[in-house]
Amino acid sequence: MGKKRINHLNDLNGSEWLYWTDSLYITSYPPDVTHALRKAHGAMKPPEVMAEIISFFTQRGQLVLDPFAGVGGTLLGAAMTRRQAIGFELNPAWVKIYEEIKAGFMVQDGQLVEADNRPRPNRATSGEWLPRQKDPGPAGSGPGTKGSGTSQLATQSGTWPITGEMRQGDCLELLKELGDESVEVVVTDPPYGAQHGATGFAAETNFNMLNAGETADFGNAPDFETYLELMHRFGLEAHRVLKPQKYLIIMVGDRFRAGEYVPLGYLVAEEMRRVGFRFKGLKIWSNKATQRPLKPYAVLSSFVPNITHQNILILKKE
Ligand SMILES: C[S@@+](CC[C@H](N)C(=O)[O-])C[C@H]1O[C@@H](n2cnc3c(N)ncnc32)[C@H](O)[C@@H]1O
Repeated sequence: MGKKRINHLNDLNGSEWLYWTDSLYITSYPPDVTHALRKAHGAMKPPEVMAEIISFFTQRGQLVLDPFAGVGGTLLGAAMTRRQAIGFELNPAWVKIYEEIKAGFMVQDGQLVEADNRPRPNRATSGEWLPRQKDPGPAGSGPGTKGSGTSQLATQSGTWPITGEMRQGDCLELLKELGDESVEVVVTDPPYGAQHGATGFAAETNFNMLNAGETADFGNAPDFETYLELMHRFGLEAHRVLKPQKYLIIMVGDRFRAGEYVPLGYLVAEEMRRVGFRFKGLKIWSNKATQRPLKPYAVLSSFVPNITHQNILILKKE
């Protein structure tokens, strides 16, 4: 009989581990119960996706850090998988929304549900609170599409509160408050590069998250060079606070700017290599639930891509 191998990274079994190593990642999660509150942000990530990422890079009870926390997609994913979590977010409006979610929702069997004491508007008339759809149905789903609970989420039974803490401020300052080698994973979704004018960026992305006039906002960097310098400073701190052999996961989209493709995922990964991380790979994430119709940029004239994927960069502190 072979010796039983110890899993030092996560709580998954061999086949769950293997499934997650696929470089293509297609999801189609329907809006969850917190979506009506979170959607004000515009660039928020599905808690289910964050829960799956967290499930791979941590074990139950470990500490997850998100320095660009938005309205709390990562913190909610951590709650769903029973991890501890800390988030930093510059914009007080997003922190307030997360606090509202924390007070009004909880986790039941790995899924977010309304807390018993939550004041409920009249659903029949307001339509404000979307009921959780257990099964997204065939639309948008295809082979390999993740759209309902995953096995590792479904195996967590019971009811528990959302406990992740979100601190308001500039992450470059707040990160200094964390001790060396104090967190098991950094999972984050920073602004995708320089703004180049709010109007252009909004038209390009439909995002509503920019903090006008806030120079500490990475998305307000005047150009990609400055953005990458800021990411370098963030990377140094992420490297310091991570325990050895643990991972930094960055979600970042590529851009098309001034007639040229900007492989921002690759550029950010290179910057993190300069910090000292080893680049282990990426998952190309396609979120079918939010995919918009393709736009006819320069049709019959020149190739312009519709960038429908995001990069999930996997970097390790070795
Ligand atoms: C793409 S969004 C993150 C969304 C998040 N994943 C969610 O699910 O809500 C990036 C966030 O970074 C925040 N941000 C930008 N610069 C920051 C900084 N220096 N410190 C902390 N947060 C910052 C923005 O306000 C924005 O909410």
